[in-house]
Amino acid sequence: MHVHIQNISPGDVAVELLVVGVFEGEPLTGSLKNLDTRLSGALSNAMGRKEFTGKWREQWGTATIDRVAPQRIVAVGLGQRNLFDRPRLRLAGGLCGQVARRLRSHNLAVILPDELPCSPADIAELLTDGLLVGYWRFDKYSSVAGEHPLAEITLLGVGEPGGEAAPGVQRGEITARAENLVREWGMRPANKLYPEILAQEAVRQGQAHGFSVDVFDENKLREMGMEAILGVGGGSAHPPRLVVMRYQGGGSRTLALVGKGITFDAGGISLKLPAGMEEMKFDMLGAGAVLGALGALADLKVPINVVGIVALAQNVPSGSAILPGDVIKAFNGKTIEVTNTDAEGRVVLADAVSYAAHLGVDWIVEASTLTGAAVVVLGHEATCLVATNDSLASLVLQAAESACERVWRLPIYPEYKRLYRSNTADLKNSPGREAGTITAGMIIAEFAGSVPYAHLDIAGTAWTPKSPLNGTKSGPTGVMVRTFVKLADMLSR
Ligand code: BES
Ligand code: ZN
Ligand code: MN
Repeated sequence: MHVHIQNISPGDVAVELLVVGVFEGEPLTGSLKNLDTRLSGALSNAMGRKEFTGKWREQWGTATIDRVAPQRIVAVGLGQRNLFDRPRLRLAGGLCGQVARRLRSHNLAVILPDELPCSPADIAELLTDGLLVGYWRFDKYSSVAGEHPLAEITLLGVGEPGGEAAPGVQRGEITARAENLVREWGMRPANKLYPEILAQEAVRQGQAHGFSVDVFDENKLREMGMEAILGVGGGSAHPPRLVVMRYQGGGSRTLALVGKGITFDAGGISLKLPAGMEEMKFDMLGAGAVLGALGALADLKVPINVVGIVALAQNVPSGSAILPGDVIKAFNGKTIEVTNTDAEGRVVLADAVSYAAHLGVDWIVEASTLTGAAVVVLGHEATCLVATNDSLASLVLQAAESACERVWRLPIYPEYKRLYRSNTADLKNSPGREAGTITAGMIIAEFAGSVPYAHLDIAGTAWTPKSPLNGTKSGPTGVMVRTFVKLADMLSR
């Protein structure tokens, strides 16, 4: 799929589909007015009859029967101009993608109203990212797969090709490709994606984008003293892996991105209930976001060093599985009493995060589908942030805002510590329901040592039952790829 910029009148662009964005309650002006005139006022008449009002996400379409170069025009409502912001711009891109998918278009052009509250580069980036993410469908196992007719996307009204907006197109293409890759991994079921396979995917990403990849197998993990990841993965026929990726963008400082990669979470001996358990194939999306972000950072040549660490394991019950009450020692020597084998994410992350700290990195930012409680707190609308360091927390919040991904910070109070005290070990992994998302983050923070640490609980946002970017399709979102990229970019300056 190729995205390019053209500076010609929308009525003259030879495409199957032209999408025009229209604000609610605003008359058509400039190039849209011109287009409408060439169509004998078809759009303005529809607006006059209130057939199309420009309300947010509203759509109206017409064939152009050779009056203008585009064969079909679809107007999409952008809502009130004063409510329009960057997240809406990305969602508007998603709408364009959905329309193109529905109409099976081979090519499309997009034109938005003038004087949007962002730079041409920002418009190009958010539109491109939203469009490519909105268009994507998972069809790997479909017998009618490979039907991706959309080959050419033209952005109009953002200046000249090679101008100010061009780097935005490139950024949007790079992040969208990474997000869609993460989503594909998320969709793959546990029999097609287990730790060895995801580790292989990481190796392939390293080769494709130019970063180094080390895979620790079960023997190496034993040698390293990583009992935590070995314990969680011990019940499965598919052994666990810890993958360490290094992107050397330069400079003296290193950001560690860490991800939870449970390729299936049955709960282990503390078995989950059957209803909806199939969704737990998504429990590797933190790791997915880290893998995807590394490729994107390398493509964007962000001038910072990033080490990506993902802890891959399958959490299933068997005779070799970890038992409730078992005590294991993590990489940094701290012991964990596993009171609930279904609180496995924090256990594997104990090894991964303490390994990041051991590497002497400057910041650790970790993403995981960690707690059902995070879905209770913020639903599917925002990611929960638990951070030990205020300046890192504010950078993460800024990066998320710039990425159009919602993140909301929860507090750490020392009083919560008693909830995960253990009589047998340094701490227990399952404190119970009270402040469940916070205690989960605090437990992992115990393994970050003195390194500034931020935990992103993406349980509600990595997979959503309804995605505005994709119509109502449920599934993985690729969340945190864009936030990671923006954060690395900010830290590199
Ligand atoms: N992967 C789950 C969390 C999860 C739940 C993600 C729902 C997405 C949707 C995690 O491993 C888990 O099972 N957490 C437990 C922790 C509890 C036992 C302390 C939970 O949230 O119930
Ligand atoms: Zn889990
Ligand atoms: Mn679990």
